[in-house]
Amino acid sequence: MGEKLLKDHTCGELDISQVGKLVKLSGWVAKRRDHGGLIFIDLRDSTGLVQIVFDPEISVDSHKLANQLRPEWVISVSGEVRLRPEGTENLNLASGQVEIKISEIEVFNESKTPPFYINDESDNVDELLRMKYRYLDLRRSKMFSILKLRHKIVRYIRRFLNDKDFLEIETPILIKSTPEGARDYVVPSRLYPGNFYALPQSPQQLKQLLMVAGVEKYFQIARCFRDEDPRSDRQPEFTQLDLEMSFVEQDDILSLVEDLYSGLVRELLPDKEIVFPFPRLTYQEAIDFYGSDKPDTRFGLLMTEISDVAKQSKFVVFSSAVEEGGIVKGFVVPNGSSFSRKKIDKLTDLAKMNGAKGLVYFSISDSIKSIDDLDESHVKSPAKKFFNEIELKNLFKKFHAQPGDLLLLVAGNKKIVNNSLSELRLNLGKELDLMDPAKLNFCFVVDFPLFEWDENEERWNSMHHPFTSPAGEVGNLSDFPPDQIKSTGYDLVCNGLEIAGGSIRIHDRRLQEEIFEILGHSLEDIRSRFGHLLEAFEFGAPPHGGIAGGIERLVMLLAGTENIRDVIAFPKTQSFSDPLFESPSEIDSDQLNELGIIIQENRKNSEEI
Ligand code: AMO
Repeated sequence: MGEKLLKDHTCGELDISQVGKLVKLSGWVAKRRDHGGLIFIDLRDSTGLVQIVFDPEISVDSHKLANQLRPEWVISVSGEVRLRPEGTENLNLASGQVEIKISEIEVFNESKTPPFYINDESDNVDELLRMKYRYLDLRRSKMFSILKLRHKIVRYIRRFLNDKDFLEIETPILIKSTPEGARDYVVPSRLYPGNFYALPQSPQQLKQLLMVAGVEKYFQIARCFRDEDPRSDRQPEFTQLDLEMSFVEQDDILSLVEDLYSGLVRELLPDKEIVFPFPRLTYQEAIDFYGSDKPDTRFGLLMTEISDVAKQSKFVVFSSAVEEGGIVKGFVVPNGSSFSRKKIDKLTDLAKMNGAKGLVYFSISDSIKSIDDLDESHVKSPAKKFFNEIELKNLFKKFHAQPGDLLLLVAGNKKIVNNSLSELRLNLGKELDLMDPAKLNFCFVVDFPLFEWDENEERWNSMHHPFTSPAGEVGNLSDFPPDQIKSTGYDLVCNGLEIAGGSIRIHDRRLQEEIFEILGHSLEDIRSRFGHLLEAFEFGAPPHGGIAGGIERLVMLLAGTENIRDVIAFPKTQSFSDPLFESPSEIDSDQLNELGIIIQENRKNSEEI
């Protein structure tokens, strides 16, 4: 049985050390070229490419068959490894110094002409087509190498945590709602008509229950499901490295995470620059300097708030913004005075797209040596007339602006000002080439507020999730205004991406109930949705905490891609559909009947995106 191997070597492993050896390879025809009687084929398998040569002087039959080969046919070949003739080596290929002179060939399967070329240039092919034929797209070396990188990342994580005595435990996919701020995907139950399971938005409550169970160190490479608004770094189903520990404080989790992520980068991408230990910013610092709680710390363009001076300004845009409870804030673009009017208009549009009423700019001439030499003629700004010379100098000094710089300012509602400035900063960071791709700037953001006010719903929301413990000694929560309570939550951020988030948890029933009450849940609602967890807290719940990191975001970062779909074997489109399986799809009426579900005709396909 099995005496005839279909392959005894791989394409990628062949090099000059194997010259003279007889090898048998199996794989796909990547490319065929005919050259004066010789036929050259790039043969591809999962390890790479190798050039094989059909020479009628070695085998007439094989050469004849090779004439019929077309891209993506699946073949097996036997032949001798030889050095390529001088001058024909391909240094871009691991096997580029050798070729295989073929004596035998077998065709396993033919292939239709693929809908796009299987090479790296096909990045520009319509993504829907690539996703419909994902199995062909994944044959491209760029895509396949991301799959391999993802595998190595997960393998590193497993080894690291295994060495630290963590237990990998699977938790169920069919459960009940686990609020993480998104809508649930639900699954109807046949045995309990009218009842539904919810797919986990994360294993949050389950891992907490495992701590009550005495597990102490848990992790899982966990699939999560969230029905939330699409974004370039979001998918409706994604994977987390989920971990939880008992008897720990914030520092224990952060230093574990620091060791894990830095070790992973050092092993898998040793050329990347990281700062160790990871800097820690408070939430307030992140917002103050970067306008965002997920700052890209690879570059400056740091922000300064000037609401106190703006309040007295004759410029109504500034003074009225502060009077109405808003802020005035901005940042300096070094040497930005050379920006064209068109460029500034574009920046203004970007600020407006993010809700700002406008963008105020001051362009400082580079014809002076220092800000002290400045008079009004050295400044270009539509708002110039509202400032005298001294005010202009003071304004620029507050920002440490230099001659030749451009000062950008936004006034208005705090959230809008921060969002729009953050977008402007990121846009300029990209345009001015400040985002060094060699750097992986990890940092922790800590000291988040426990709650944030939801203006639309007019109620308090958890900044992380409702299971996050307040920071410090908590006496009576109701003694404090909710916006002044700090949380034990923390995020790991890298190059502007939120990579992981976690907290120390509540393990006391009374406190947990109090949080739910502040979040506006009725007592009845609390008991029916979270009764199981609250009850568990009464049976000896240890202090515990943890974190979960997005695997896709980490792979994106390490693979250097901005498209989350590139790092998932079978992703959903931007509008969360699947062109390969054509899902979501209708199910037949028998299935619906069995589940006791009637579809409202007017809802059918009415919300197609
Ligand atoms: P959180 O909701 O912050 O925390 O999620 C943790 C990390 O998961 C990643 N992530 C996503 N990745 C891709 N697509 C999505 N739709 C998506 N949503 C989140 C991010 C994020 O940092 N249970 C808590 C963790 C905890 O407290 O331990 C949780 O899920 O990288």
